[in-house]
Amino acid sequence: MKRSLRFPLVLLVLVAGALSCRSVGLRGKIPGPLYDAGDVEAVNETLFLLSAEEPGAAELQQNVADLLSANLESIDIAGGRYREISLWRSGAMPGGRSRSLGSLRFPARPGHPEHGRVLPEFRRLLTDWFRNRRQFRQEVMSELVDRIKRPVDRSYGHPDTGRPYATCAVVGNSGILLKAEHGDLIDGHDLVIRLNNARIAGYQRHVGAKTSLSFINSNVLRSCAVRDGCFCHPYGDFVPIVFYLCQPAHFVEYLVCNSTHKSPLLVTDGRLDTLCARIVKYYSLKLFVEETGKPPAMWGKFHDVEMFHYSSGMQAVVLALGMCDKVSVFGFGKSPEAKHHYHTNQKAELGLHDYPAEYEFYRDLVERPQAIPFLRGAGIKVPSVSFYN
Ligand SMILES: *[C@@H]1O[C@H](CO)[C@@H](O)[C@H](O)[C@H]1NC(C)=O
Ligand SMILES: *[C@@H]1O[C@H](CO)[C@@H](O)[C@H](O)[C@H]1NC(C)=O
Repeated sequence: MKRSLRFPLVLLVLVAGALSCRSVGLRGKIPGPLYDAGDVEAVNETLFLLSAEEPGAAELQQNVADLLSANLESIDIAGGRYREISLWRSGAMPGGRSRSLGSLRFPARPGHPEHGRVLPEFRRLLTDWFRNRRQFRQEVMSELVDRIKRPVDRSYGHPDTGRPYATCAVVGNSGILLKAEHGDLIDGHDLVIRLNNARIAGYQRHVGAKTSLSFINSNVLRSCAVRDGCFCHPYGDFVPIVFYLCQPAHFVEYLVCNSTHKSPLLVTDGRLDTLCARIVKYYSLKLFVEETGKPPAMWGKFHDVEMFHYSSGMQAVVLALGMCDKVSVFGFGKSPEAKHHYHTNQKAELGLHDYPAEYEFYRDLVERPQAIPFLRGAGIKVPSVSFYN
């Protein structure tokens, strides 16, 4: 199969595999029409429809239903230094015993949310997110300036223009960053997005020093929540954080962290999560058919369907598409002589992500964005996108 010469690297690496999300998602309606008049890049409708299938959908629905009917217990741990919040589903076990759906122990500090306030907030957040998660609406792309850029600008005291950033850099975590010195180039962008709290100290020549937005998954948020002051700010207390939800129960971590946070802590819209899940599934199906010659229905036999999930980097790129006029991407890609992550000694990725599929998506973004079915009708002008090796 053909691969672009401009993109000799086949695999992508961005995030610590151990921190990756499990598959979440639901089916939704397919909006029409799929084709713009005169569009030469035909979308394969079979693959488009199949991309809506998410094997973990029923489990997710059950998980959310359980959480919505759960009771919450908030207790001070003896000694007074820690508090614990637990979610229980009563009568869910044989013999009518309660089942624990999640718990979080965190350093007790004044200002942490009180029992009475947490449960209704938790339910409201989860209900909203899940309602959105069940929808396929690519129009969410046109709302990202309002939903993410505006709060970020307000927190920095920047003028609220309602316009996209002129230039954005998305900085991934691949070891290929160490092969070049793009630090100044990266810092020259209006918005610099970094992923999953990757360290920059000691690497500034390669990765830059500026961070405008920290993008993390909720497993990272969870590890922050158990630290004093919900420490999640390797880039400074005032850098806004956007996270996506790996597990619905992580809204507890969100509430704990949000109550002490100095900068905005924003959760991605469930519709954006669904959009990203479908894009990656579509490209994964497409690659599978091209590479194996097998029918797309067999895709599930060759992938860990329950664990399959887009990478954090992929969603950060999609987020940037909705908020920026021009997007530069750094530190995405793998090469035999480069480390997996520039800042860790992690050897390899767990197989949760289909990086070659994400790479095909990026290649279309750069070379022929009109071929990406999911960005049609999104209500945005797709920015020009460049990848730096
Ligand atoms: C779409 O992909 C499927 C699976 O590869 C293939 O069987 C079908 O012919 C394709 N349809 C079009 C219109 O190209
Ligand atoms: C999170 O914190 C901000 C700032 O204090 C507040 O405006 C917002 O309502 C909080 N969100 C939730 C869900 O509590």
